[in-house]
Amino acid sequence: MILVTGATGHVGRAVVSRLVSSGQEVAALVRKPEAAQKRLPREAALRVGDYEDASALKAAFAGIDRLVLISSDGAADTVTRHHANAIAAAAAAGVHHITFTSIIDIGETSPFYYAPAYRNAERRLAACGVPSTILRCGLYSDFILDTWLAPASGELALPAGQGLVAPVSRGDVAAAVAAAAAGADTSRALYTITGDRPLGFDEIAACYSEATAQPLHYRSCALGDYLASASARLDEPWPQAFSSLCASIAEGRYASTSSDFTALTGKPPESFRDFLVRAVFGVLTKG
Ligand SMILES: NC(=O)c1ccc[n+]([C@@H]2O[C@H](COP(=O)([O-])OP(=O)(O)OC[C@H]3O[C@@H](n4cnc5c(N)ncnc54)[C@H](OP(=O)(O)O)[C@@H]3O)[C@@H](O)[C@H]2O)c1
Repeated sequence: MILVTGATGHVGRAVVSRLVSSGQEVAALVRKPEAAQKRLPREAALRVGDYEDASALKAAFAGIDRLVLISSDGAADTVTRHHANAIAAAAAAGVHHITFTSIIDIGETSPFYYAPAYRNAERRLAACGVPSTILRCGLYSDFILDTWLAPASGELALPAGQGLVAPVSRGDVAAAVAAAAAGADTSRALYTITGDRPLGFDEIAACYSEATAQPLHYRSCALGDYLASASARLDEPWPQAFSSLCASIAEGRYASTSSDFTALTGKPPESFRDFLVRAVFGVLTKG
């Protein structure tokens, strides 16, 4: 049986659906079973647990062969603790394999707010005694759209310089995760999941203009200016997280692409342009 955490979220729900459709026996880790039942395929068994509750996680992971650990979100110290609890519980419960969604930029010198949290999780995975497969995922196309492109004010001002990113949709991340978790070969330790083409934010803005017929222009701004404007709109940690992400992009840390998505799924990733057209025509899974 494969257990998926974050199963009520965008990526987790899509992983559960894909695994159920491919005939796998699937369990879903949820916090509120009644609400979760309505959102997940009825074939998925529900296991209840919170990342904060180590003993509940261990009980929830009993009898599970493979764990899909969808990364947690929020303040970096909370995320670090959640991943640590889940990895320790998996080892204590005798899980045979863990698939984990990490991030591309975990470099020691990275400015990105979350880089230390993900370095920590990857180190714990390497040391926990359970074989694991890590998917280092690029920026989600959905994240870029929701956080930076909509609602469009006509100007996209980010402290990302001329840095490039190769966006990948949450749907494609879920496809890659499901393929890695269900695959016969769980010996490969690391995949990098990106879109197929690196884009500058000027190209991203142009794609948005084309898909929506709303003009949008990119302007590279100073980090301090972005931080001040984000802090006026958003609670911590988001101003810090988003500005340091832009700093990482400006340093070229998100520019590379990988063919691992195609190797795992047998198809090319969805282009950012096609993703936007799908989003604009309202056929993306919401909520
Ligand atoms: N690469 C990128 O661009 C990017 C961007 C944003 C996020 N991410 C990462 O990708 C992950 C998946 O994205 P997503 O869009 O699927 O996220 P999402 O829709 O927000 O889903 C988060 C999931 O985590 C669960 N969860 C939250 N706190 C929990 C806790 N304390 N114990 C147990 N479960 C908990 C939620 O359960 P409930 O339904 O009970 O709340 C939900 O199922 C995120 O968590 C984040 O780490 C990556």
